Amino acid sequence: MTAPLIDPFQRAITYLRLSVTDRCDFRCVYCMSENMTFLPKKELLSLEELDRLCSSFIRLGVEKLRITGGEPLVRRGIMTFFDAMSRHLDSGALKEMTLTTNGSQLERFADDLYAAGVRRVNISLDTLNEAKFAEITRWGRLPQVLRGVEAALKAGLHVKINVVALKDFNEDELFDIAAWCADLGLDLTFIEVMPMGDIGNENRIGQFWSLDDLRAKLAERFTLTALAERTGGPARYLRLEETGQKIGLITPLSHNFCESCNRVRVTCTGEIYTCLGQEGKSDLRGPLRSSEADAPLEEAIRAAIGLKPKGHDFDYSRQQLGGQMSRHMSHTGG
Ligand code: GTP
Ligand code: 5AD
Ligand code: SF4
Repeated sequence: MTAPLIDPFQRAITYLRLSVTDRCDFRCVYCMSENMTFLPKKELLSLEELDRLCSSFIRLGVEKLRITGGEPLVRRGIMTFFDAMSRHLDSGALKEMTLTTNGSQLERFADDLYAAGVRRVNISLDTLNEAKFAEITRWGRLPQVLRGVEAALKAGLHVKINVVALKDFNEDELFDIAAWCADLGLDLTFIEVMPMGDIGNENRIGQFWSLDDLRAKLAERFTLTALAERTGGPARYLRLEETGQKIGLITPLSHNFCESCNRVRVTCTGEIYTCLGQEGKSDLRGPLRSSEADAPLEEAIRAAIGLKPKGHDFDYSRQQLGGQMSRHMSHTGG
């Protein structure tokens, strides 16, 4: 038996978020600046290397694998990778393989994802208004994403909608978005905006809509019950008693959840980030390429997890940004 991955704070690491590209076909204003510089393609790990890397994590006890980006479905040949990874679902070593996507390519890929063993997708969607959608994503178009949602449902995938809560942007859509999700049978999670990367002239503190306020707004219309249920991610769930609908809240700012952190992130160039909210990283590409055997890689993974920090330092409470990160969310996939 291989020893499980345990960090210095006795948290077991069972969840890997793998970013397969830093590129995206959208330019969401809270995530990227308009002029992003992307990594040269030659820096990327090959699909075979991504496979070796994930397989090592799985051997070390990772049970949940989430593919992220940028936009993961714009990486060329990515379905080959999903197909290959499905062997770990078949063997039972991996309990879930899933992805977080902007939905733009789902019309094309939903059936293939289902065939590869994916059962759940998280789709980012911050507004149901076409003009606002174009504004917030700069390059995205709402109808394309709605067709993606439809295709995912038709393929048999369970869909969760991720909404970044943004002041003066989607506050007024809270009940409409909730009703739309309830109608289509979609799960729904709200996320507090985090200070990740320089995004140009946008003002983070001005954008911040605390989920404590969102929750209070929901409570004006519904009776809320906090649920103990977990999906292995950071969301905590509420049930609206009148409709039975469940709503997830991801609250890095208003309620820190680092104590129960079970995850690490690996970028498309093989850097491991053991915390979303800290700069610390280690290289896995060197050890991966140094030997055909996986021992050096596994050693490097263990060493990196041995340095996992306690948590992030995000803080807006003094009306200035605390814990601001230099890298963009698209670098590690959120
Ligand atoms: P489920 O499996 O559905 O629970 O998904 P998940 O919440 O783990 O994944 P998803 O990609 O939907 O995550 C939503 C967002 O939550 C991410 O994009 C991040 O913005 C945020 N998030 C996820 N993990 C962390 C974390 O470890 N720390 C912080 N601060 N935010 C996180
Ligand atoms: N703060 C919070 N969430 C963000 N996302 C991207 N940038 C940020 C940010 N600064 C979200 C996306 C997507 C997920 C991967 O992260 O909308 O749902
Ligand atoms: Fe884990 Fe860091 Fe996220 Fe906290 S901020 S939950 S420690 S990854």
